[in-house]
Formats: sequence, structure tokens, C-alpha cells
Amino acid sequence: MKRILVLISGNGSNLQAILDACQAGRIAGEVVAVVSNKGEAYGLTRARNAGCATEVLDAAHFADRAAYDAALGDLVAEYRPDLIVMAGFMRILSPGFIARFRGRMLNIHPSLLPKYQGQHTHRRAIEAGETEHGASVHFVTEELDGGPVVLQARVPIFEDDSEEEVAARVQVQEHAIYPLVVSWFCMGRLVMMQDKALMDGEPLEPAGYAAE
Ligand code: GAR
Repeated sequence: MKRILVLISGNGSNLQAILDACQAGRIAGEVVAVVSNKGEAYGLTRARNAGCATEVLDAAHFADRAAYDAALGDLVAEYRPDLIVMAGFMRILSPGFIARFRGRMLNIHPSLLPKYQGQHTHRRAIEAGETEHGASVHFVTEELDGGPVVLQARVPIFEDDSEEEVAARVQVQEHAIYPLVVSWFCMGRLVMMQDKALMDGEPLEPAGYAAE
């Protein structure tokens, strides 16, 4: 069983999808801890309900990003994770932190990367007149939202859709693709080598895994 540590900042619906998949035996791993930078994050309640250890590390108590990331790295390392899953963790991590856990960090981003890196992805996609949007699971590298994509899910954007409607549609897909990618990693099928995602030893396309 792989040891999974999840980083969150908020609702934790992706965390819940991963907890449920572990519980159902669809992931050969267990969530050993959930760490939040926000004490009020609802995801902490989800974690406690599932019997997971929880930690809160508030950036307000640290002088700068380097100090925070050093403390976060030490805290994470105490749990000896095989995999760190960023699930709505709304902080940029410094290169030092990323180097420490290289190849062992996944993130989910609410866009079809490389489109719409950064924030407010749904609003920006609607404003740009896109008819298609989605979510991407990718390995984390020093480049923000720029690590190799493992799997994407696409959703339509309909005329007159609100930001909330698009966000909800994307989230349904997130809850399907994130546990699946975590399961691949835990089975040893998915690795990152030289900043490329490899599935069963073969490099993935830039848009990630695509079923035949
Ligand atoms: C998710 O939609 C995720 O894609 C997004 O935050 C949401 C967290 O929801 N992440 C980012 O925007 C990262 N740049 P959740 O807390 O319910 O899982």
C-alpha cells in the first residue's frame, strides 16, 4: 500500500473522491495525512471523518515563502509519503520544495493545460468564447501549472453558461480522473522521468493519456 499525503486549502471534494476510491479498494494506497494551509478548510472535516491524520500549517505564522515551504516540507516528510496529491492547494510552492519531492507530486488544474494556467480559469474560458473546457492532472515541476500532463477530461461550455455551471461540470470530471491517475501511480504504472510522464514505460503525449 502506497502512502498518500493530500494538500488542500478548501472544500476538499477531490480529496473525498480519492478517500472514497481508497476505501473502495480502487487505489492501492491509503491517505496517511491531509495537510491544509487553512484551518477552516472543510476538507479537514472530510479527512477526520475518514480517520486520517490532519495538520494545519498557516502561512501567517511564517516570515516568508522560503520559511513556510521549509516547514511544510519537514511536516510532509514526517509522514514518509510515496505520493503527494495537491487537491485545491492554493499556494505556489517554491522550487526547493518541489525539488525535495520531485516525481512524487501530482496536481489537478481546472483547465485543458497548457491553456489557462493560473487562476479564474472558468471565467477566462467563458470570456474567450471557448466551447470546450476541462481539467488536467499533471506532475508538479518548477514551472507553475506546467508539469507533464497525465490525463485530461473535457466538458462542453454552452451558450449563457455561468462560471458556476462550468465549474460544477468540470468538478464532476475531476472526481473521475484524479482517483484514476492516483491509482495508476500507486500501481507503479505511472512515473515521471526527466520531466516526462511515462505510462507503462511509454512517454505520454502532451495532452496525456488518451484511450484508443
Ligand atoms: C478544483 O476544482 C481544482 O481543480 C482547483 O481547485 C478546486 C478544488 O476543489 N485547483 C486549482 O485551481 C489549482 N490551481 P476541491 O477543494 O473541492 O477539491
